[in-house]
Amino acid sequence: MKKKFYVTTPIYYVNAAPHIGSAYTTIAADILARWHRLKGEDTFFLTGTDEHGQKVANRAEKQGVEPIEVCNKNSAKFKEVFDSMSISYNRFIRTTEVSHGNVVAEVLKTLKDKNLIYKGEYKGLYCVACERYFTPKELENGKCPYHGTEPVQLSEDCYFFKLSKFREPLIELLKSGDWVVEPEERKNELMGFLLSEELEDLAISRKNVSWGVSIPWDRSQTAYVWLDALSNYLSGIGWDGSSKVKSKFWPPEVQLIGKDILRFHGIIWPALLLALGIELPKKLFAHGFFTVNGKKMSKSLNNILDPEELGQTFGVDPLRWLLISSFPFGADGDVSVSKLYDSYNSELSNGIGNLLRRVVAMALKKDLDYQINKSKEKIQNKITKTWQEYESHLNKLQFQKAKNTILDLAGFADKYIEKKKPWTIKDEKKYQEIISHLLEIIRHLSWMIYPFMPDKAIEIFKSLGIESNEKKKSLTESKKIGKVKFNNISQIKVLFPKL
Ligand code: MSP
Repeated sequence: MKKKFYVTTPIYYVNAAPHIGSAYTTIAADILARWHRLKGEDTFFLTGTDEHGQKVANRAEKQGVEPIEVCNKNSAKFKEVFDSMSISYNRFIRTTEVSHGNVVAEVLKTLKDKNLIYKGEYKGLYCVACERYFTPKELENGKCPYHGTEPVQLSEDCYFFKLSKFREPLIELLKSGDWVVEPEERKNELMGFLLSEELEDLAISRKNVSWGVSIPWDRSQTAYVWLDALSNYLSGIGWDGSSKVKSKFWPPEVQLIGKDILRFHGIIWPALLLALGIELPKKLFAHGFFTVNGKKMSKSLNNILDPEELGQTFGVDPLRWLLISSFPFGADGDVSVSKLYDSYNSELSNGIGNLLRRVVAMALKKDLDYQINKSKEKIQNKITKTWQEYESHLNKLQFQKAKNTILDLAGFADKYIEKKKPWTIKDEKKYQEIISHLLEIIRHLSWMIYPFMPDKAIEIFKSLGIESNEKKKSLTESKKIGKVKFNNISQIKVLFPKL
């Protein structure tokens, strides 16, 4: 049976515009999805928009329109940006879909039937921008750590989920390693939190939020947005809320999130799944933040970089490459347009782009049939070793290291050219052999580039005259060395014009 791979991103708040921070998680998920598809796995990639909550209702009221109109417009914007960035999601879910609402209602009913829900009163400090309560300890100088605004004191009747019951099972799960949280630092953060504090029960309904899924047994209340949002990972693969999850894709192999939403995905989400009797995702990976001069990029700080604008400057594929590999996935990293320019010029324009142009030009110089007919162990070993390293890095979500192996292979080819100086070679057989090796390196390089820059990889295959053949192959087939005849080479477009 084919292996399956299910990857998710968080669903994005519909009342904010997409920015490169939000594109980051999605690009990472897309690279993984493309990589697992390449490996021949049955892959499902879920993303979408998170559309309920008071903020949306407030905005709609200000604009004098219905909340759904705000949702439709802004959700379409996310979809448009993701489509323009070659994001190959299998499903784009919206929490305002009726089928999703039904799932949320089923989740609530099941929890109630299991006696895990009770009525009570909630008092707390609520940040409207985050749509969540904070404990006084979590605040910075009495203000929201993410928005710098003062939270409001709220008190309301609501329903509680017995989250406290799940503290011990969660600690056990984390310890056992059956449920993986990465990077290690984030796992420690979760463990530290679970060990140091009593887990309080969770308010899972709101009286004063009209824009949401109604509580099935009390229409005066709506479901807490996070319970609503987290359920998307199940409704997105077609779960109907019945006790069994029938989709072959469940559970996710990896759920990607930013570190700011670790507790929602590392505590509330697994506790809900345990309560529902549903298998847990295999891995939760929390990445770091894009920062600008050390500060998180966010609308309220007015330091947002626009993915669409950057896409116009660098091109979509290069932007994917630059964003995902400028610092290790999991850590924070400062970005600036000038740093992106530098990497673009050195890695893509002068690096890979220049190599491609040189090799294709040399191949076109003589009308020869290029196929490796003499095995060169050093080159074969280099290609094989690069594949091994590349795969191991990608499987561990180390995008930057995977990129570096690609650049290293390109550097190896550059050195090979300098050493052999093909332009000095008169003997046709010898010339053919050297160029064949270079073309073969480029073919492998293109496959490695593919998950990062799919359109550029296709361009390279076209120029090598092997596009349709390569598309039909499995990765095992593509990775074989020396089986391809390059006899239909054409001029390559300038893939990475100097900026
Ligand atoms: N709607 C919730 C998620 C619900 S999932 C059941 C949400 N949405 S969000 O739009 O605010 O954020 C979505 C993702 O974008 C999060 O993983 C968040 O960490 C990520 N990013 C937002 N700003 C970011 C940066 N500046 N840098 C990197 N990623 C950041 O949270």
